[in-house]
Amino acid sequence: MTATVIAGTGSYVPERVMTNAELERMVDTSDEWIVARTGIRERRIAAADQATSDLGLAAARNALAAAGMRAEELELILVATATPDMSFPATACLIQAQLGALGAAAFDLSAACSGFIYGLSVADAFIRSGAYRNVLVIGAETMSRVVDWEDRATCVLFGDGAGAVVLKATDAEPRAGASGLIHTDIHSDGAAWDYICVPGGGSRIPPGHAMVDERAQFLRMRGNETFKVAVRNMERAARKVIDQAGVKADDLSLVVPHQANARILNAISDRLGLAERQLVMNLDRYGNTSAASIPIALDEAARAGRVAAGDLVLLLAFGSGLTWGATLLRW
Ligand SMILES: CC(C)(COP(=O)(O)OP(=O)(O)OC[C@H]1O[C@@H](n2cnc3c(N)ncnc32)[C@H](O)[C@@H]1OP(=O)(O)O)[C@@H](O)C(=O)NCCC(=O)NCCS
Repeated sequence: MTATVIAGTGSYVPERVMTNAELERMVDTSDEWIVARTGIRERRIAAADQATSDLGLAAARNALAAAGMRAEELELILVATATPDMSFPATACLIQAQLGALGAAAFDLSAACSGFIYGLSVADAFIRSGAYRNVLVIGAETMSRVVDWEDRATCVLFGDGAGAVVLKATDAEPRAGASGLIHTDIHSDGAAWDYICVPGGGSRIPPGHAMVDERAQFLRMRGNETFKVAVRNMERAARKVIDQAGVKADDLSLVVPHQANARILNAISDRLGLAERQLVMNLDRYGNTSAASIPIALDEAARAGRVAAGDLVLLLAFGSGLTWGATLLRW
């Protein structure tokens, strides 16, 4: 039976570092508060001439190089993003053109911080169906363009970056010990759409609209409620995929959760009974990069030699929608 294997990973973050000290000069906050409440010490900010496709392109090139695949071999390019270059065309099409992957289908996927897991899930379904054998999934964001830099409760949390994976079809069976995706599980709860949203800029409150609130083009979040659901839903998704595979949390070599807040990650880790070595955490350096956070963290872990062939890896996501999900794979 056909399954999906990760053939290569890549990532890219902009050069410009914004520290907590810099934020202290912009809003009423402190390094102590940000570190204690979130674990974040600094984040990356895209240059004025960089858009989401530029970050995604750099990550994609790194992933293709790691996979030893030429762009012309790609059959599908999926970009998970909440901050596309434009309403249309899709950021995936802009990246396709830059890569010269002209034979591929390309489209964007909107699932905010869960976008990468949603992207893996869609790509896996296409590969298992036999439609495509070589797929590129990118998570790329320029959150700095939608963050309200006057709102201390949210502007300290987010950053820019991109990560990517090249996926290939395999005829070996991951459940029987071969490399590949074992289970993906995705969920949504649209009733809680207003927990995290950017209300303006779309068809509801279009640009130039006589807005009641001129800050509608910026991100809004109900932080406390989001925190609680994030922990609960990521734990539930994790348990579902590991139970389905008949493995235990102990068997996982690596858990790569969406990098939202160190306290959320530690709470999930406690609930699942994980050891420190199992948990990947890089949000101290990048903050929350939304759909980019999991592929960046996965790429860093892979390049640091934290995973070996045959290891079980669990990816966990949560985000606006609300959306959440998990992917269990064998490296
Ligand atoms: C946003 C978040 C860090 C806030 O932490 P918290 O411990 O819940 O803090 P609260 O929102 O209860 O705020 C506590 C106080 O700190 C203040 N505060 C908020 N942001 C602050 C900042 N950057 N610096 C200093 N004080 C701040 C609040 O105004 C509040 O003050 P008050 O008690 O005088 O009203 C936390 O709720 C969180 O991480 N939520 C999940 C968000 C998330 O990950 N979203 C993305 C999911 S994909």
